[in-house]
Amino acid sequence: MKHSDYLIIGSGVAGLTFAIKIAEKFPLKMVTIVTKSNEDESNTKYAQGGIAVVLNKIDDNFRKHIEDTLICGDGLCNKEVVEMVVTDGPKRLKELIDWGAKFDQNNEGAFDLGREGGHSNNRIVHHKDQTGYEIERAILKQAHRQNNIKIFDFHFALELISENNCCYGAYVLNEKTSEISIFQADFTLLATGGIGQVYGHTTNPSIATGDGIAMANRIMATTKEMEFIQFHPTALYNKSFTSTFLISEAVRGFGGYLRTKDGERFMMNYDKRGDLASRDIVSQSIDIELKKSGDECVYLDCTHLNILSFTQHFPLIYSSCKAIGIDIEKQWIPVLPAQHYLCGGISVNTNGQTSVNNLFACGECSRTGLHGANRLASNSLLEALVFSNRIYNYLASLPLLERTKSKVFPKWKDCNSENVDQTIVIKMKTQLQILMQKKIGIVRNDSDLIEAKKQIESWNAECINIQKKYRVTKEFYELRNMIEVALLIVRGSIERNENRGGFMKVNTLKTANSD
Ligand code: FAD
Ligand code: SIN
Repeated sequence: MKHSDYLIIGSGVAGLTFAIKIAEKFPLKMVTIVTKSNEDESNTKYAQGGIAVVLNKIDDNFRKHIEDTLICGDGLCNKEVVEMVVTDGPKRLKELIDWGAKFDQNNEGAFDLGREGGHSNNRIVHHKDQTGYEIERAILKQAHRQNNIKIFDFHFALELISENNCCYGAYVLNEKTSEISIFQADFTLLATGGIGQVYGHTTNPSIATGDGIAMANRIMATTKEMEFIQFHPTALYNKSFTSTFLISEAVRGFGGYLRTKDGERFMMNYDKRGDLASRDIVSQSIDIELKKSGDECVYLDCTHLNILSFTQHFPLIYSSCKAIGIDIEKQWIPVLPAQHYLCGGISVNTNGQTSVNNLFACGECSRTGLHGANRLASNSLLEALVFSNRIYNYLASLPLLERTKSKVFPKWKDCNSENVDQTIVIKMKTQLQILMQKKIGIVRNDSDLIEAKKQIESWNAECINIQKKYRVTKEFYELRNMIEVALLIVRGSIERNENRGGFMKVNTLKTANSD
């Protein structure tokens, strides 16, 4: 059993920035981070476009960023949260810079502000097309400077420990020794990121299996708006249904055009903002175009852009395309929407508190009210920074008396010494991903949803049975979590009966009167 004052599950931007602050504030308290892969592996590391922050107060202002966020969220954002996040942005950016993160500047020494869909101004602070990599590098380095932060890499959190609606830590699997221990803590922060692997065809890396959301759901923490899946319009087209490379929206902000195979710039037919309409609209428009033409992808045309400037801004995108034989200067880039982000998640208040005492959630696994029905581009790193700071402020201000005492919890018991069969896990995962892509994609309908619900419920029951007979593995638990997250998405989609933002349902359920 390991005891710490603060247990953080996840080492992306949400988990690390909270860890740094709380560890600096309380040098005698122990801050433990468990993370299931290499310490830097996370969605954070792959963020390209940047962080949306109002810095240029001549052309831009907070009001415009707030307005853009509200329009994008299509009526479902919490306005107070939006105002809080947007106005706190500059301070949180300064902290990142103080910790050593570097962002691109123009010739005048001001930040080189990029543009993305749904933004009425250039306001995206970035580090080339590798903003997340730079942030993760800087905050990991800062976390390592702090003696009272201990990072356990390749440690997979299986279940939260709770009693009487209060969280006391987690059961954690050491992936190298297969030992399962109790990581007990006064306060636990879920910072476990996204769910992309539920779909398979996603811009997210393989760690994005929705573990935190499923764990929280199992101890009855409230989740909300799980049906709002954001599909990024321009994932690099490939024929496989696995993780796929992102072509940043900042490329369209830089002047790239979307075209059909025949060269038509179709976006103006759908929205007066054209190629820079918000993500939900661009993805839905591409979906319509592809269904109309029967084509497998649309194209992003950058051939008219200054190639030198392009390679300076987007070196990773340029080289990644080059590596698969696409010369951006001469050829259009084939692109297709892919799952990218979850707008809903574990419901939290403005201090990041979940409905379970002493359990907090931050970053992509949380639902704060910022995004509503569709997240505005580059608002998610910002949200994680602002909310990790809110959680820090809240916990730092608690009187010591309110902190919980140590309790004793039973050791983890596996039912058998034989591991769950890996082939069953792989097969069920693939079936789940195919089902989610085919039936729970950009446009949904009730009959598909009801059919999918039945199927996923039966996989869920099968997993519960398997767990009764075998020793659990990380891969099995990820599958269990993905199935639970899929169920939340499907149930939310069935319940929602209006199309908003990234949610579109064509109702094909037969009524009692129809023939
Ligand atoms: P993550 O960074 O995903 O970190 C989650 C952590 O939890 C990881 O360390 C993971 O290993 C760990 N973990 C998960 N489950 C467990 C478990 N069971 N046990 C132990 N550890 C666990 N947003 C923007 O604002 N701007 C952008 O430009 C941008 N570009 C993006 C580009 C790409 C390709 C992708 C995929 C996302 C992008 N996003 C962008 C979204 C943004 O990167 C993420 O929403 C954000 O980084 C999430 O941070 P996080 O800390 O919540 O989660
Ligand atoms: C991108 O660079 O297109 C991704 C930005 C985001 O997800 O906010």
